Parts: sequence; C-alpha cells; structure tokens
Amino acid sequence: MNIIISRPFRYRLRSLIYHTPLRTLFAKLRQALRQPPAHEDSGWWDNALKSEKSSYLGEAASIGLREAIIGELLCQFQITPRAILDMGCGGGTLCRSLAQFKPETYTGVDISRYAIERNISTDANGKNGHGMAISFVESSLQTYAPPNGVVFDVIAFNEVLYYLDVHEACQQVKRYCQHLDHNGVIAVTMKDDPKSHAIFRKLTREFDWVGGTLFQECGSQPHFRIKMNEKSPAYVIGLLRPKSLLQS
Ligand SMILES: C[S@@+](CC[C@H](N)C(=O)[O-])C[C@H]1O[C@@H](n2cnc3c(N)ncnc32)[C@H](O)[C@@H]1O
Repeated sequence: MNIIISRPFRYRLRSLIYHTPLRTLFAKLRQALRQPPAHEDSGWWDNALKSEKSSYLGEAASIGLREAIIGELLCQFQITPRAILDMGCGGGTLCRSLAQFKPETYTGVDISRYAIERNISTDANGKNGHGMAISFVESSLQTYAPPNGVVFDVIAFNEVLYYLDVHEACQQVKRYCQHLDHNGVIAVTMKDDPKSHAIFRKLTREFDWVGGTLFQECGSQPHFRIKMNEKSPAYVIGLLRPKSLLQS
C-alpha cells in the first residue's frame, strides 16, 4: 500500500528519525527484520538507472554543476589531483569535470553493472584524450578495496553515502582513508535530507572540514534561500580531511 505523504511532512518525519535516538532504533529494527532497503541491491540500481533514474548517469545539469564546484574547491585549496577514486561513480562524469587538472588516473566504482558497462564502452582504450588512465570497477563501496599501496589525492563520495546507514557511511569513509595521500581530500556531496544532515554531522566529528558550498539550482525563478524541492534539491558539496592528517 502506497501512502501519499506531502514532502514537508516527510522531511519533518525524517528529521525526527535522523536527529534523535529513533535512528538507532529504526536501524536495529530493520536489522532484526532482515529487511535491507531495496537500493542496497545492485539489480535494483541496474533497473533504476535504465529507467526513471537514467539522468543520474550524467544527463542532469546539476551533476555537471556540482562537479564543477568540486573542481573550484580543489583549486581554492590548492589540491592538484593526480589519482582520483570516485565511489558510486554513476556515469563517470567526474573524470571529465576534473580533466583540467590532467590527473594520471581515474578509477570509478559503482554497484551497478549497467553503469559500469556503459562507462567501459565509452572508454574502450582505457585512456581519454588527456592521456588519463581510466578504469571502472563493478563493486559496492562496502566491499571494494583498492590494491595494496595505491593512494589517491581525491576520493569522492558524490550522492552515494546517502544510500548507506548513517554509521556505516562514516565507517566506510574512514576505511578508504587508508588509501588517501597525506595531502589528499575526501570530497562528499549530499542532497538536503535529514539523513544527509546526520551523516555530515557524524563525519565532521571525525574529519576536519576543509571547505564547501551550499548549492541549489534556480529552475523557475531566482531565490536567495534554500527551498525544499524534491526535483531540484539543495546540495552540500564539501572537502574533508582526517584529523590526524592535518595534525601530522
Ligand atoms: C545518485 S547516483 C550518483 C552518481 C554520481 N556520483 C553523481 O554525483 O551524480 C548514485 C550512484 O551510486 C551507485 N551506488 C548506490 N549504492 C552504492 C553502493 N553501495 N556502492 C557503490 N555504488 C553505489 C548507484 O549505482 C548510482 O550509480
């Protein structure tokens, strides 16, 4: 049975869950019922990306804009990436958006075979016009492990942590830090949703906030305040570093 709940009410309800101890209770309840959300399944993503979520593979203007902001933030904080790891890479568009830095390698990881096969077919020789070595890996971010000794200057989690449990999302970002260069950054983008707020709150306890931007497209008219909008949500785009890296 589908219950239709208005967006503002749903947002308040989710705030109640994600900003209070109810979150832990719900997570435990789901674990006890062994009911993983549908979006944890690769088949669900294959179907969604073939149909109603096809714009996630790069057609949405907001993707290019968000990625351009990441490029600007990297410039602002004088980070020139040589090796990029893009978790939940979707259409792999980040590799085009960051080409200005002439990175040596780009690795895109996605749970969806459909997304990966589509990306591989567009870069059959493994290199793009800028000589960047591009590779794509079909894997969930919870199970992927970069090869031993390989480090990246930028590890991106754009619009993907949101699909993990709050605690798990932070644990995974911490796990990938073993593969972050000492001058590197973690780039995180998340849409305006109480769950994203909870993940950012937890992340900023464990990581230093290097800098970021709050961004929303003005589709129908100019506005100066963030609006609750399911189709064109606001996004926080930020760079983080493990605390220990700044202290060393
Ligand atoms: C909303 S799209 C984001 C695409 C792109 N990163 C962006 O910023 O627009 C989410 C992508 O993450 C992938 N994804 C979802 N859960 C994942 C997981 N647990 N591990 C790896 N990829 C995942 C999906 O297949 C999809 O391509």
